[in-house]
Amino acid sequence: MKKYLVIGNPIEHSLSPLLHNYWIKNKNINAIYEKKRINENEIKNIILQIKQEKITGINVTVPFKNLIITHLDQLSFEAEKTESVNTVLLEKGKIVGHNTDIEGFERSIKDTGFDVVNKEILILGAGGVVPSIIFALKKMKVSKIILSNRTKDKAENLKNLFNDLQILDWGKVIKFDMIINATSVGLKENDMINLNFSDFGKNKFFYDVIYNPQETNFLRTGKKLGSKVENGKMMFVYQASAAFKIWHGTEPKINNDVINLLNR
Ligand code: ATR
Repeated sequence: MKKYLVIGNPIEHSLSPLLHNYWIKNKNINAIYEKKRINENEIKNIILQIKQEKITGINVTVPFKNLIITHLDQLSFEAEKTESVNTVLLEKGKIVGHNTDIEGFERSIKDTGFDVVNKEILILGAGGVVPSIIFALKKMKVSKIILSNRTKDKAENLKNLFNDLQILDWGKVIKFDMIINATSVGLKENDMINLNFSDFGKNKFFYDVIYNPQETNFLRTGKKLGSKVENGKMMFVYQASAAFKIWHGTEPKINNDVINLLNR
């Protein structure tokens, strides 16, 4: 039986096993997908187990998407450009890192029908998933990306990857067409981002990477202001689906049953 893992820290909340095991069963594949909380010094051993074919593939989540890179032999184009890896497997004897968060974000935005071409995007946060969001937005031809993070250094660091990024001090808000919450604020039900988004009128797009809870205070604010809102659920589903395809060579089904799995 093939074994797959998602590694991270924390990992308890991860719904990846639920989703992947559903698809594995649905496709009659002889495999199991588990989650494992690890410390950084355990990455080496996990990679060794992939080399030895004891583990077939892993997903990587916070805080290892960048840290894992030094342990890999090869990166996909997207993983290299974002210095971020969420899917790993052995290909022709080499440990290869892929980034499916980009595809996940892009497909989820396309689903909403919001046309990002030539739009100005404000991103809040500078954590592990942000390089993938920036890469996807640039690919989708937005006109400007502005980034604001509580710790300004982390925002500035992202300019090494994307030199046309505009940095905004935390606490300030600037005119935008679409605003993305990529911070972890909202994971707890009462979490609130203390920014005043109300000066820029209606018909904006509020996107929260968080999908559990389904409606954060950030999205509630967007709704109240008369804006379109979307959470990160489909981004999560699509990144998983792309990883599944890389490992198993077949596209998993995405239907209401799958989406309902995550409604908890
Ligand atoms: P990591 O930074 O390890 O990749 P993450 O969950 O991907 O973890 O990112 C957390 C993001 O939420 C960061 O941008 C973080 O800001 P800092 O860089 O200043 O830590 C942001 N964040 C977390 N708590 C926050 C808070 N109370 N207010 C504002 N931003 C917060």
